[in-house]
Amino acid sequence: MPADMKFTRFAVLALVGCFAFIATVSAQTSYQPSAPQFELAALAPTPPMGWNSWNKFACNVSEQLIRGMADAMVKSGMKDAGYKYIVIDDCWQVSRDQDGNIVADPQRFPSGIKALADYVHSLGLKFGIYSDAGYRTCAGRPAGRGHEYQDAARYASWGVDYLKYDWCNTTTQDAKASYALIRNALNASGRPIVLSICEWGTAKPWLWGEQVGGNLWRTTGDIQDRFEGKLKWGNGTCCSYGMTAILDEQVGLASYAGPGHWNDPDMLEVGNGGMTDTEYQSHFSLWAELAAPLIAGNDMANMRPEIRDILTNKEVIAVDQDPLGHEGTRVAKDGPMEVWSKQLSNGSRAVVLFNRDSKPREITATWEELGYPSHLSAAVRDLWQKKDLGEFTGKFSAQVASHGVVMVTVKP
Ligand code: GLA
Repeated sequence: MPADMKFTRFAVLALVGCFAFIATVSAQTSYQPSAPQFELAALAPTPPMGWNSWNKFACNVSEQLIRGMADAMVKSGMKDAGYKYIVIDDCWQVSRDQDGNIVADPQRFPSGIKALADYVHSLGLKFGIYSDAGYRTCAGRPAGRGHEYQDAARYASWGVDYLKYDWCNTTTQDAKASYALIRNALNASGRPIVLSICEWGTAKPWLWGEQVGGNLWRTTGDIQDRFEGKLKWGNGTCCSYGMTAILDEQVGLASYAGPGHWNDPDMLEVGNGGMTDTEYQSHFSLWAELAAPLIAGNDMANMRPEIRDILTNKEVIAVDQDPLGHEGTRVAKDGPMEVWSKQLSNGSRAVVLFNRDSKPREITATWEELGYPSHLSAAVRDLWQKKDLGEFTGKFSAQVASHGVVMVTVKP
């Protein structure tokens, strides 16, 4: 073979090899968020805390309502307790203009979204909004597909700090690719924006949510304001979940959560009227134990003191917000009696004794279940009574009300 032919063959092979290499590398990295100017994990070092309009107000949103809720977050003590995001869920948007820009409902948001975000920011809070990865949101409003970069730039110009991105009407879209796309669009906007993946757990987002730059991801269908059970949607697909049905779905997911990226068992129903105060206290304790995002979903302007006391219990919130970012796990289950344990950064454990029964039960957590040697003496503090209960060795037992919890820290 003449030398110049050899060279041509070599050049062709080298070129093919080069393309193959580039293709492999880009296949491996195509889901990586484009280099943002900020640390994605730093957007949510602890589980996000805030309020969202959906659970209580559904499509009944307006700038008046949102302003009122922002005011109430400050006045009620919720802001002081750590809540900071005010998130408008579905139904704020009505159309796109001739340039394809998303348009807010002019009747309900006459001053525009930017003015609303500015107001929320003026109270020292952060502002969040909602869209969907398909062509239409769940309520049939215009959604993000095909407009990802345009919408992200617009959200950034409005001062959006948090985007909840839903999964309705996505037909054959690939979940991982769709959420990678919106994260890249958000990054390209230059504004640090928390990405809340609302894909209901269908494609197991805990396996890829962090990789695509999601800060939290829903693990199940929608929460319902009830203690237990699971209901099919009107169209026969699965499901909305009672509080304990969601809890059961969290088992096995703890290792996927950590600082910057959280499992999201959906927003709180505390105060919406479908459960007893005891059940709401359990709901809140268990969500804190799970290191869940604490997104209140009630009418903060009209809270009974009992509800406010649940949502603002600083010791329970401190468990949720513990900087170690460990998600608690169920370490014992005996019929309706459960023990949940969460490692805290100071070496102690937050423990929830949970009674699903219709009568009171005595529940025991052994040190062994908490990962401590049984000869150890540890100080136990009750986080709802806000009282030190003394030193215990080997185990701690308490009488737990029907559907209630006893929540303690155990500190060796
Ligand atoms: C889905 C989501 C809910 C809510 C509604 C809005 O059901 O899971 O949290 O955002 O859409 O239409």
